[in-house]
Parts: sequence; structure tokens; C-alpha cells
Amino acid sequence: MTTAALLLLHAVAALAGAGLWLAAGFTAGPNADRRARSERMTVLALAAGGTIALLAAGVLTALLAGRGWWFAGEKVTVGIPFQLMGLAAGVVGLAWWIRGIRIPSARTLMLGGAWAMAAGVLATWLVGYPPQPIAAAVLLVAVLLATGLTWALVAHRGRRAIAGFAGLLAVLLVAGLGWSWLSDMAAPSIEASAAHAHGDAAPAGGVTSIPVTALRTPAGGGEVHAVEMTAARHEVTLASGDTIEAWGFGGDGVAGPELRATEGDLVEVSLENRDIDDGVTLHWHGYDVPNGEDGVAGVTQDSVAPGERFTYRFVADQPGTYWYHTHQAASEGVRRGLYGMLVVEPRGGVAESLDLALPVHRIGGEVVIGATDGSQSFDAAEGETVRLRVANTERTPIRVTVAGTPFRVAAVDGRDIEGATDVEHRSVRLGAGARADLVFTMPATGVRFETDLSEASVVVIAPAGTTVDDLPSEVSDVPELDLLSYGSGDRPDIGPFTAEGALVLDRMPRFLGGVPSYAYTVNGEVFPHIAPIEVREGDVVKITIANRGFDVHPMHVHGHHVLVLSRDGVPATGAPLWLDTVDVRPGEVWELALVADNPGIWMDHCHDLDHAAQGMMMTLAYDGITTPFEHAGAHGNRPE
Ligand code: C2O
Ligand code: CU
Repeated sequence: MTTAALLLLHAVAALAGAGLWLAAGFTAGPNADRRARSERMTVLALAAGGTIALLAAGVLTALLAGRGWWFAGEKVTVGIPFQLMGLAAGVVGLAWWIRGIRIPSARTLMLGGAWAMAAGVLATWLVGYPPQPIAAAVLLVAVLLATGLTWALVAHRGRRAIAGFAGLLAVLLVAGLGWSWLSDMAAPSIEASAAHAHGDAAPAGGVTSIPVTALRTPAGGGEVHAVEMTAARHEVTLASGDTIEAWGFGGDGVAGPELRATEGDLVEVSLENRDIDDGVTLHWHGYDVPNGEDGVAGVTQDSVAPGERFTYRFVADQPGTYWYHTHQAASEGVRRGLYGMLVVEPRGGVAESLDLALPVHRIGGEVVIGATDGSQSFDAAEGETVRLRVANTERTPIRVTVAGTPFRVAAVDGRDIEGATDVEHRSVRLGAGARADLVFTMPATGVRFETDLSEASVVVIAPAGTTVDDLPSEVSDVPELDLLSYGSGDRPDIGPFTAEGALVLDRMPRFLGGVPSYAYTVNGEVFPHIAPIEVREGDVVKITIANRGFDVHPMHVHGHHVLVLSRDGVPATGAPLWLDTVDVRPGEVWELALVADNPGIWMDHCHDLDHAAQGMMMTLAYDGITTPFEHAGAHGNRPE
């Protein structure tokens, strides 16, 4: 059974346990003498059912612990103690009630026990992982007060007792909410903590602090590849005839201009914001630029307001397929079109005769590949080679394939795949933000690039003059290629780990910018309060990502690529897989290695940008690096 299924079953069992005991407590009537046999049987049956459900929850917790402590931690340390406490109270209460003694206390114990069991369920939802002792203590006091209130009611202790317990419960609730609201208002944590920076290994005489603004590419040197980009609202007429209001970085289509540089160039992009009121930035997704060029509003720069400019500079020393997009209020900006492709061609040029960069996006109800929707055609002669650089600029995973010929996945996330072999009738899954280069030799007949988002928006490639038969769409029917066992090659030797970070992904009720939300959390917190992964330059960092939630989280690391070590405990066996976006499905655990060779404060976030906006963002922070920029503030910076 999948871990996600275990998590779901556990929630159902634990809820059923509390619910059935609660029903038993309510069914157990006050009058011992006139108790009908049927009432007794009902109460017994409900309590027995509740107990069985709790036992099942216990077994499921054990199974979850086997999948990783992340999935079971708070269930073992908080949930089970609450459930045992509740069960003990419930059983004593039930025994008294059956024997007809101490009826008010018996009923109070059964109901109070049920409150404790319910709190055991809430532990998973409110306390989360890692278990927070304060939240657990608040839950305990809440259970005691709710039991007191129950007692005041069933034992008819009068108005004052009822009002007293109800009042205390209300105070606790308000205090709990207030405390969590205050911690949301507290100072953000996106830099490495002073404690870490001033650790033993720090040089005597104090730590030098370097602002991110000092980590930039100097002007001059190399062939300058200068580009002007203007962020503006514009109207785009799609192939379907629809005219949509889009935001873009120039060009007539939906995506911004394709930025193609040659290895060795100094890329210099001058960004102007014409009329995007929320502001814009340019982030080079997957491209490991110096930190000050990373384009994250509120972390590496201020958002560029209408009428303002910002110039980015970086050396094109990493050939491959990347994309760029705004990193200011990006959940809306990217969706509306503030993105484009960045391709760095190798020094000697691209080996293929036809080389297409194809961002896949959804806008105005249409699927847009490249600049437009609908079916597009390109010519390639038989025997020529073709490279399709595919980027998923959507929020959710997509599957893509080339129908009509074998193809290989020559590169993923801008890194070549060693020993990539031809596959046929396979789909390639791309998490949000990810890229894959699909390469094939043109057959005599036409081929079709398709995605699982649309049967209408496709790219047909055929030798000039040939008519392309109607190939059946296959992307949704063929099996997915598993990149963890694809290709071949030796594991790179990256030395022993010197730092570590664990990211436990979940969804929990939290305050977000002062507003109560059902937020996306990492380690129980939301941005900007998630403790950073703290590293020193030269560290080899082991990063573990575990997804406790029921959503897919394409986790994106800025400034670095991570080497995939394992998924769900199964080591990667194919070519070394270096990713910048790791699509972590519900219940999955990924182990990754990162070499800390690019100092800065780097975002680390979910590339379902709606999730990022809902809290799932944090940083990987190098010791001694500081930022003068702030979240929100006068520039309205919204790093998501
Ligand atoms: Cu593609 Cu932080 O972004
Ligand atoms: Cu997510």
C-alpha cells in the first residue's frame, strides 16, 4: 500500500475511533434504572467499534513509522498517548455505566475520553511534524477543560460551573490563536542564524557578513549578449481565435522572447516594467547565477515597479535548457504569461538540425506550446536530428511524449543524461518548472510531440511535402519513463556529508501574513518562518524531502542542482540525475545531495506557485550572507 493511502486510512480510523466513542458517550443515557437492554447493546457496540478503529489506527501508525518517522512522529508522541488516555477513561466510564454506578462520572469519562481521542486526531492536523510541545500542551489543557464542561453539564453542576469551564475554554482558544498569530508576526527567518554563523569554526575576530547585493556579476569581459525586456500587459490572439489579456516580457505570443545565448557569452538583460502594477523581476529558473542576479523580490532585490529598471548579468557557462520568469507575486504573474525560455547553446553549436524550445503553458482555457495554441508544424528531412527542449511552466505535473518514432531524453533540468538510450511508447513526466530535452532522428513519416493537457495543441514535425497521417494520441496511455533508472554512468564522488536538511511537507491551518489559512507547510511552518537549511561554502548537504500531504509538491532549489540519491528508499541506479526541480508526490521520500558552491540566500520552494504563495517557501542560507531586502515592506515584495 502506498504511504499516502496509509496516511488517509490512518486519518479515517482515528476519526472513526473518536466519533464512535463520542456516539457511545451520547447514547449512554442518564437514567440507570430505566435503561433498556437495547440501549446497553448500542452503547457497547459503539464503544467496541470505536476501540477497534483506534487499534487499527495504532497498527497503521506502526506501518507509517516503517515508511519513515516523518509520517508517524506526532502520531506516536502525541496522538497515541491522547488515544490511550481517552481509551482508559472511556473503558472505566463504560464499566461504571453498565453496572449502573456513578452515572454522571461514568458519562463524563466516556465523553471526556472521546475528546481526548479527538485531540489525538487533531495532533496530526494541528501539531504536525516535527511535534511541537506547546501545541500538544494546549491540546491537553483543551481536553481537560472540555471534560470539565461535560461534567458540569451531565452532573448538573449549575450555570456557574458551566460558564466557568466554557469561559476558560474560550480563553484558551483565543490565547492559542493569539499566540500563533503573534508568531506569524514575528521576525522572518531567511538568513542563516547568528548562532550558526558564529559557531566554533568561525574565524577568530568575528564573522564577516556579505550582503547579497555584493554577489553580482561584474560588467565587461566576454562577448556581451545584450537583451532588452519590457514587462507589459498585452493582448494575444490565439490560434483558436480567442483574444486574451496576457502579461508578458515582449513578443507577440504568450511566452516571452526566447533568450538564446552561446556558452561563454556574458548575458546582460535590461528589464523594464511598463505597467505591471504588482511589480516584476526576472529569475533564471535552473540557471545557477550568482545570488545577486537571482531575481527574487524581497531576498535578492526589490520588486521592479512600473517605470523602473533592473539589469541582470550572468556568464552563460552552463549549456542547456532553462526558463525565466518573474519572481514577484509569481503565482499570478507566471500564470498570466511572465515567462520565457532560456537556452544556452554549447560553444560548438547545437548538434541537431532542428532545435525547438517549447514551454508548455495553460492560459485562457487553452494549452499553449511555445508561443501559441493549436497544432503547429515544422519541417525536418529524413535522417536529420531534432531536439525538443520542453519546459513545464504550469503549476501541476505534465506528461509529454514523441509519437511516431523512438526518442531519447538527452537532458533533464539543463544537465545531460549520460548513456541516454532510445525509448518508444513512453511518456516523460515533468513536474512544474522541470525541463527535458527530447532528441530523435527524423523518420520518413511525420512525428508528433504531445502533452497530456490537450489533444489539439501539438507540434507536428515531418519531412517537407509529406502528409502526416492521423497518429493516435498516445501520451496518456503509455507508461511513464522512470528517470531514476534511465541512462547509465558512474555515481559522482562528492565526498561525505557535512550538513543536513529535512523538509517535511504538509498542509495545515496556519496564519499567513496575519490571515488564517489552510496553508502549505514545511516542517510545520510557513514562509517566512521556516528555518533555513544552513550551510557553509564547501559543505556537501544531504537533503531529505518527505511529503506527508495529499498534494504533489515540485520542490525547486535555486542556485544549485541536486543529485538524486534515492526515492522511497530505492537508490537511483541510472545516470547521475541532477535536478533543480524535484516532483515529490504524496507519501514520497527523496534523498538528495547538494554541493554548496554558490554562496547566497537561495529560495527553496514548491513550484506549484499557488502552494508557494500559501506558505511553501524557505531558503538555503549560507553563513554570513545577509540581505537588505525584506518581505512585503515599502516595495511590496512578494517572493513567491
Ligand atoms: Cu522557477 Cu523560485 O522559481
Ligand atoms: Cu506544492
